[in-house]
Amino acid sequence: SRPGAGGEASPEKLLAPVLSAFWDQPESWTLETYRRHQGYDGLRRALAMAPDDVIAYVKDSGLRGRGGAGFPTGMKWQFIPQGDGKPHYLVVNADESEPGTCKDIPLLFANPHSLIEGIVIACHAIRSNHAFIYLRGEVVPVLRRLHEAVREAYAAGFLGKNILGSGLDLDVIVHAGAGAYICGEETALLDSLEGRRGQPRLRPPFPAVAGLYACPTVVNNVESIASVPAIMLRGKDWFRSMGTEKSPGFTLYSLSGHVARPGQYEAPLGITLRQLLDMSGGMRRGHRLKFWTPGGSSTPMFTDEHLDVPLDYEGVGAAGSMLGTKALQCFDETTCVVRAVTRWTEFYAHESCGKCTPCREGTYWLVQLLRDIEAGKGAMGDLDKIDDIADNINGKSFCALGDGAASPIYSSLKYFREEYEQHITGRGCPFDPAKSTLWG
Ligand code: NAI
Ligand code: SF4
Repeated sequence: SRPGAGGEASPEKLLAPVLSAFWDQPESWTLETYRRHQGYDGLRRALAMAPDDVIAYVKDSGLRGRGGAGFPTGMKWQFIPQGDGKPHYLVVNADESEPGTCKDIPLLFANPHSLIEGIVIACHAIRSNHAFIYLRGEVVPVLRRLHEAVREAYAAGFLGKNILGSGLDLDVIVHAGAGAYICGEETALLDSLEGRRGQPRLRPPFPAVAGLYACPTVVNNVESIASVPAIMLRGKDWFRSMGTEKSPGFTLYSLSGHVARPGQYEAPLGITLRQLLDMSGGMRRGHRLKFWTPGGSSTPMFTDEHLDVPLDYEGVGAAGSMLGTKALQCFDETTCVVRAVTRWTEFYAHESCGKCTPCREGTYWLVQLLRDIEAGKGAMGDLDKIDDIADNINGKSFCALGDGAASPIYSSLKYFREEYEQHITGRGCPFDPAKSTLWG
């Protein structure tokens, strides 16, 4: 098929790279390069449409949120009340911090204008005059590039007053966070943006009803918004002709770990890890896949039995998980599962914001027990204890961070209980750390 031809949705078929189409070109991040590739043409089409029609169009395209949860983007926009007399805000969540997830930051670095164009379209749709990009604070080069792209967009009339003569006024503010994983949770992000300590708020009300400064707010992931211009330009049927019926379109997968060629791979939703490994040269030479995660450490780990599970919100979802951020971390047989889970759990304990007891206390105790097991000081009863602590975190915490912390505990006990037992009976780790490039 050629772009625009429509046709049957297929997990294998990517009509052509979209988000990463010209990342390898010199100065791919400039407005000039973007415009050479039809940049801001989708915006012209969107501005010619009524705001509600743009929302309906994005809804019909089937675009689902790329931050992890897969919530339908058009539906989220539709939640914004109209004629309410309040300001509406768009907040772009660029606080990408999930372990193994590295797709929004490269996207912003290589092609920031796709996000800015998507922001203008989204603000036209939800009738907003103010957008914020909340960027992970550690990535200073990306911050600079984003500032420069925003400046270019203002100078060319794509931001500011009366954009392209449409009557839309829009200001975009780039805000750098201070390096807290929890500030990627949408309501903690809003608190942080308002100048408070970033901790999750009670939902409902969802941000669409009471978000930034208690006003209706859309919070969308970078990749979700950056996907919108191509949909407006090439059409919803074109978008739907890729991926699967319920998870249509293209997306960016981050492949990391013991793979031959780690990096970002653009492919349709619904393809499998086996297909992605084929694209990326497979596992590193002489080694085989032992376990992997579909969406960073917050989604359960899988094994080589799951190589053919479709990577979409139904396939991986049906296997007991969410697709999450599409961060495929692949580990080979040199990796100690207990060590990997301990490292992830240390991360959650460190990043727990402390607001609720199950997560704050539970992650602390998980770390103590896991460290003991890994060091050969554990007892068999510790396995039931970590399972029990995970039960007291999962579904009982205030936000998704707690559930994420429980996830690798459950799945590692399910698939690799014997490896835990080996650490306990053998009084130490059976793996040679010198042989694993990942943990050193
Ligand atoms: P969620 O499923 O609770 O909500 C998803 C989105 O839909 C939110 O924006 C929410 O406001 C909106 N929504 C849901 N129900 C609504 C309703 N009835 N009315 C209005 N709006 C509604 O998921 P959550 O907790 O926001 O995000 C969890 C996801 O984040 C996980 O899938 C995880 O993989 C991902 N994640 C991503 C990270 C990253 O670095 N990108 C880091 C950590 C987690
Ligand atoms: Fe904070 Fe963890 Fe509770 Fe979320 S689950 S509110 S991160 S303590």
